[in-house]
Amino acid sequence: MNTPVVLQVAATPDSPALVLRPWRMEDIAALVEVGRDPALRQWANSVVDNAADGARWVEAQQRGWAVGERFGFAVLEAQPGSIREQLVGNVVLKEVTSGKPEAEVGYWTAAHARGRGVAPRALEALTSWAFDTFEADGLKRLKLLHQVDNLASCRVAQKSRYDFDSILPAAPPSFPRDGHLHIRRTGA
Ligand SMILES: CC(C)(COP(=O)(O)OP(=O)(O)OC[C@H]1O[C@@H](n2cnc3c(N)ncnc32)[C@H](O)[C@@H]1OP(=O)(O)O)[C@@H](O)C(=O)NCCC(=O)NCCS
Repeated sequence: MNTPVVLQVAATPDSPALVLRPWRMEDIAALVEVGRDPALRQWANSVVDNAADGARWVEAQQRGWAVGERFGFAVLEAQPGSIREQLVGNVVLKEVTSGKPEAEVGYWTAAHARGRGVAPRALEALTSWAFDTFEADGLKRLKLLHQVDNLASCRVAQKSRYDFDSILPAAPPSFPRDGHLHIRRTGA
């Protein structure tokens, strides 16, 4: 994808507008800060521990964009009284292959920004972009996986119209407990 993709999400009465854009090296310090949160460490697939780790993680996101199989977006929020936007989350479209009908989404929200609908709003923008961009290439449905006891993630799936599909058996070490598979189909 040659031009960087930037997605905009309108403000709500409780929450500023969001901007979604590909990860950059300038995000590393905020990523390390966000990665200190125990809930993120418990539930997210990969967490950044230090600046070197952060650089590797951002490089991996940039490779994903270059290869065209993984599209990670930093989710940023305007801060009142500042020209700098604050990192509040991550959404990713992954396992994209030309002609394959299925891909997967993932997300996290920084601890300080939770409970304000950041993840469902960002996920809605990612979902629309994914179908708009890849439907012509065969994409028909998006999968969302979470462990059974991750109730907050289940709520994000429900609010974002990813319907419950089935229980997935545990697959340690990356998926230690049973999970839920939710699916959203194009046009839903
Ligand atoms: C799951 C997660 C992404 C939700 O993000 P969010 O932007 O807070 O989403 P929402 O504001 O829609 O809140 C979703 C649910 O979180 C819970 N919640 C509400 N306020 C919260 C807070 N301050 N802190 C933690 N969870 C909260 C509620 O159950 C809420 O559901 P509700 O709207 O029915 O009350 C976020 O909790 C997170 O990053 N968790 C750690 C990483 C993770 O689990 N990623 C998903 C892996 S599958």
